[in-house]
Amino acid sequence: MEKIAVGLFGLGTIGTGVVQVLRENREVIAHRLGVELFLKKIVDLDIETDRGIVFEQGILSTKGEEILKDPEIPIVIELIGGTGAARKVVEAALSAGKHVVTANKALLAIHGEELYKTARKHGVKICFEASVGGGIPIIRTLKEGLPANRIESIYGIVNGTANYILTKMTDEGEAFDNVLAEAMAHGYAEADPTYDVEGIDSAHKLAILASLAFGTPIPFDQVYTEGISRITPLDIEYARGFGYKIKLLGITKASDDSIEARVHPTMIPERTLLAQVDGVLNAIYVNGNAVGPTLYYGKGAGAMPTASAVVGDLVEIARDILHGGTGRVPLGAFPEEYRQPLAVRPMDDVLTRYFLRFATADRPGVLSRISGILADFGISISSVIQTGRKSDGPVPIVMITHTARERDVKEALNRIDALEMTADRTVLIRIEDQEGEEE
Ligand code: HSE
Repeated sequence: MEKIAVGLFGLGTIGTGVVQVLRENREVIAHRLGVELFLKKIVDLDIETDRGIVFEQGILSTKGEEILKDPEIPIVIELIGGTGAARKVVEAALSAGKHVVTANKALLAIHGEELYKTARKHGVKICFEASVGGGIPIIRTLKEGLPANRIESIYGIVNGTANYILTKMTDEGEAFDNVLAEAMAHGYAEADPTYDVEGIDSAHKLAILASLAFGTPIPFDQVYTEGISRITPLDIEYARGFGYKIKLLGITKASDDSIEARVHPTMIPERTLLAQVDGVLNAIYVNGNAVGPTLYYGKGAGAMPTASAVVGDLVEIARDILHGGTGRVPLGAFPEEYRQPLAVRPMDDVLTRYFLRFATADRPGVLSRISGILADFGISISSVIQTGRKSDGPVPIVMITHTARERDVKEALNRIDALEMTADRTVLIRIEDQEGEEE
C-alpha cells in the first residue's frame, strides 16, 4: 500500500495520543484513505521520558530540521502549544511547502490570519480541528456542515476544566479554590490554569469559531473575557432558585453590522440541553437561520479525543494530496476576498439580562434607593429576593433585570457601590435566555 509520511512536533499528552490512534486504528484509517499514514519522525526536546510506548528505531529526534528539511514529509503536526516555538515551526513548515495540522488554539486565535496568508502563498493547508472542542468536529461543521446557513449565534462550553469546577461547585456546594486543585489533577488544565479559569482558553476557542462562522478576522483583544474565579456557591444557589445554572460560555452573535464575541460566566435556564453538559465535557450550540438550533457534544480535551481530531485532519489533507489540490474548502471558511472585517461590538453596547447581588445594610429605604438608581439608568427589574437577616452584617438583595445595556448597568452599579450603605462590590452575572420564554 502506498504511504504518506507525517512528521510530528511535540510528544506530550496529545502527541502520544496521536501515535496511539495511528497505531490502533491503522487498518481502518488506511482502508478509508486507500493509503497508509506513516509517522516518519517525531521531534521533541525531551526524547528520554518514558511515554509508555515503544518507538521504532530512529523515529525520535530533537532536531526540527529532520522534519522540516525532509522532502518526503508533506504533512507536519504541531503539538508544541503556545505562540513561541510553535509559531516558528508552523511558519517554517508552511514556508517549506508542507501542510500543517495543529491543535493550537492560542496560535490560531492570535496569529491565524498571518498563518492563512503564509499557507496560501505556498499553496498548502493549515488544519486545526483539534483546537476547539477536542474531539468534537466543530470546525468541519462550520466549514462544511452548515455552509447553507447564515450563522446567527453560537454558545459554547469550550473549556472542560472550568466546566468541571462549576459542576462540582453546583453539585457539592464547594468553594472555587478547593475544586481548582482537584480539576488540575485531571490533566485537562492548561500549563497555566489561569487560562482555563479566567476564560482565556475559552476566548481563544471562541475567536476561532466566530471567525469561521462569520467570515471575519477577530482581533483577539476585542473578545471580552471574564472567568469563573469570583463565582461563589451562594450565587450558584441563587441561580438555582431562579431556575438557572451557571456555565462559562463563549458567546458570539451576529448583531446588525457587527458581531458580539464574549466569554463570561452566564446563567442559562436549567432545562436547556447546554445546562445539562457537566464535568469536563464540552458542547457547542450553533444556530443557523436555515437549520435552526444544533448542538455538538463530546470530550473537549484528553489524549485520545484530541488525537481523533488531529488524525481526522491528517486524513483530510492526505485525501487532498491523493486527489490533487487543497483549495476545495477555504482555510477561513470563506475565500479571502469574501472575508469582511466585521466590528466586534464593544461590551458596553451589549444588551442582555442581569443577575445582581447587592450586599447592603439591612435598614429601611435600601431597596428603594437601589431600584431608584437602576430606574435612573432605564434598568427595569424582573424579580427581587431579599432573604431574612441572619446576623447584624450586610444582607444580600438579589435582582434579575429585564434586558438592559451593559454600560447602563455598569454605571448604575458604580453609583450603588459608592453608597455608604453598600458593604461590598455588587456581583453581576449575565443571563442568556429569551425574554419571550420567561414564565
Ligand atoms: N484546558 C483545556 C480544557 C484543554 O480544560 O478544556 C482543551 O483545550
